[in-house]
Amino acid sequence: MTVLPYKDKDGSKKEQVAEMFNSISKRYDFLNHFLSMGIDILWRKKAIRQLKAAQPKLILDVATGTGDLAIEALNQLAPDKVIGVDISEGMLEMGREKMKRLGVDDKIEMSMGDSEQLLFEDNKFDAVVAAFGVRNFQDLEKGLADMRRVLKDGGKIVILEFSTPTAFPMKQLYSFYSNAILPMIGKVVSKDNSAYTYLPESVQEFPYGEEFLGVLDKLGFKETTCIPLTFGISSIYTAIK
Ligand SMILES: C[S@@+](CC[C@H](N)C(=O)[O-])C[C@H]1O[C@@H](n2cnc3c(N)ncnc32)[C@H](O)[C@@H]1O
Repeated sequence: MTVLPYKDKDGSKKEQVAEMFNSISKRYDFLNHFLSMGIDILWRKKAIRQLKAAQPKLILDVATGTGDLAIEALNQLAPDKVIGVDISEGMLEMGREKMKRLGVDDKIEMSMGDSEQLLFEDNKFDAVVAAFGVRNFQDLEKGLADMRRVLKDGGKIVILEFSTPTAFPMKQLYSFYSNAILPMIGKVVSKDNSAYTYLPESVQEFPYGEEFLGVLDKLGFKETTCIPLTFGISSIYTAIK
């Protein structure tokens, strides 16, 4: 089943996702850190640490949003360049302002781009990363396959995404938080009635753990691994082309 941000509106998932992120872009960073109590920052740090040994020089951050994963990659790995692509102009604009403020706009490029049709040649990047993006793809396999296409042979992909805690009592506590508290705060702060209802709904429908690794295996990725974070609220997936 496809979970849409705006159930009572027309438009493909991709159009609706872009509209939703345009609508919440100004409050996105604040809500991210507030709703996760800052843990999202630690998750991104750990995701990028998976690339320490590889020392990639050219990195693609797919669904870069406001660019926090790209900034983390630059800080930890000191690559020559990070290119972030996203389908939401609103998120990219917030990201570009942030890069200027931080004085890293010569190292991090923020471009309009669709994960399912990346405008890069095959085998270009040393590493491809994505945080909280792949769950929003209209066609998950198509998006992941294109991320693989632009990755060099032997290059590494690192994906950070929400998953679902399975053990008592975290499963119950997290379910209450994400279905009741999170949509309420999200709605008031972002002024978007649907965005933070879409979030838990899309997480519930999304493959995680072994099931997600199965998708990566099917697409031809090698050495696939899953690292669950914070009782399984999120997971880091890594794989090699
Ligand atoms: C939850 S945000 C994550 C942003 C950022 N990576 C972070 O860690 O905060 C998800 C982003 O995915 C983008 N997105 C969704 N589908 C996409 C697609 N097909 N291609 C590129 N970006 C996409 C959205 O526009 C949004 O900015």
